[in-house]
Amino acid sequence: MVKAVYLIATAVIITALLVGGIAFVLLRPAPSANVVEIYHWWTSGGEAAAINALVDVFKAKYPDVAVIQSPVAGGAGYVFQAVIKPLVLAGEAPDAFQMHAGYEGKPYYDGGYLDPITSLWQSEGWESVFPKVVQDMVKFGNDYYAVPVNIHRANVVWYNKAVLTAHGIDPTTLTTWDAFFAACDTLKAAGITPISLGDSGKWAATHVLEQIIASEGIDFYQDWVNGKVTSATDAKLVDALTKFSKYLGYVNTDHAALTWDQATAKVISGEAAFNIMGDWANGEFYVANKVYGTDYGTFPVPGTEGMYGLVIDCFQHPKGVKHPENSLNWLKVVGSKEGQDAFNPIKGSISARTDSDTTKYGDYQKAAIADFKAATHMFPSVTHGSGAPQTFSAKLNDIMSNFVTNKDVNAAATALTQATKDASADYTTVWSL
Ligand code: GAL
Repeated sequence: MVKAVYLIATAVIITALLVGGIAFVLLRPAPSANVVEIYHWWTSGGEAAAINALVDVFKAKYPDVAVIQSPVAGGAGYVFQAVIKPLVLAGEAPDAFQMHAGYEGKPYYDGGYLDPITSLWQSEGWESVFPKVVQDMVKFGNDYYAVPVNIHRANVVWYNKAVLTAHGIDPTTLTTWDAFFAACDTLKAAGITPISLGDSGKWAATHVLEQIIASEGIDFYQDWVNGKVTSATDAKLVDALTKFSKYLGYVNTDHAALTWDQATAKVISGEAAFNIMGDWANGEFYVANKVYGTDYGTFPVPGTEGMYGLVIDCFQHPKGVKHPENSLNWLKVVGSKEGQDAFNPIKGSISARTDSDTTKYGDYQKAAIADFKAATHMFPSVTHGSGAPQTFSAKLNDIMSNFVTNKDVNAAATALTQATKDASADYTTVWSL
């Protein structure tokens, strides 16, 4: 019975993807039209507002070019990846598409689906305005293959200020997991959901685990992204999973039905106190007209003070696109000071450029800019495509989703380390964090 349901569900998904794929191809603009077609997954309130602001900058510069946005809903691109890959492989790539820096672009580079854009980097003077850490993450071989539009921070706890104040919790004291879990106990005893989670797309749970791994120390995180954590009894891996299991004891019961932004909404409304999420969550507080420091606040995930978890969105120039000139002009706007200072203040991220106009940014981001400059360590996200090879990260969400259900530390440690070993040949980047 279960097998039959599974087979029917699989058939439905495959049919939907096929029909969807055909529709995407049929609905696409004629190559001769003066358009630029871009794909992304920015569909939450804050995300959509941000990409629209970037599109507006493009439209003002290139009024004759129509911008066609093809958004594919699903945080962190978990649906998007299944849509874009077949298009690119079929030679039907749009003029540019959202892609994380680092490993996420590697399969496209390896397959010869991207054009190098080193000359654009040179003519736009980007080498002198993007930090070295960012430059390195968009290079394959000696060439640049993408342009970063932002730098998001991953290791952030968002909190509802009124809820913490009402229960006598001082967020500045929550620098260790013990202190954080003690605060969660206080809230739970008072009938408040301590932590919101929205893992209908699975990745939001992985995102939390990743921050806990960072809290085990930068050396351990470095081993993790370099494919060196290969023992299922590794003390730090076991400790991280044990902490995550405890964390899951404080989350909302409907977490598996919610998206990431619905989980953020619970903190905005005061239905829950805390949420661990990248700072795209700030875009949701922003569109809800909440004021940083008054209505809500943040602190680094316990144990990650001084560390900056990197999530970097980029666009690229796929080979053989229908509108090559418009594609390059889109990239110019993406990498420009003006484009980044229109997009990022709304998105919640900081500009990837060092010369951004900080007066355009809100108080959360002003603090993030200072934290980025002062960071002792930066660490690339695996959940968000950068840190580890796709052959590993593709398995990660399913492993963590099983863990969220069964909280079996040994099973998860075994599956994670096995996935690392299976992907060993693909760990081509040596991170030095
Ligand atoms: C990340 C992406 C962010 C944000 C988030 C939620 O992977 O880098 O820009 O969109 O997903 O969708």
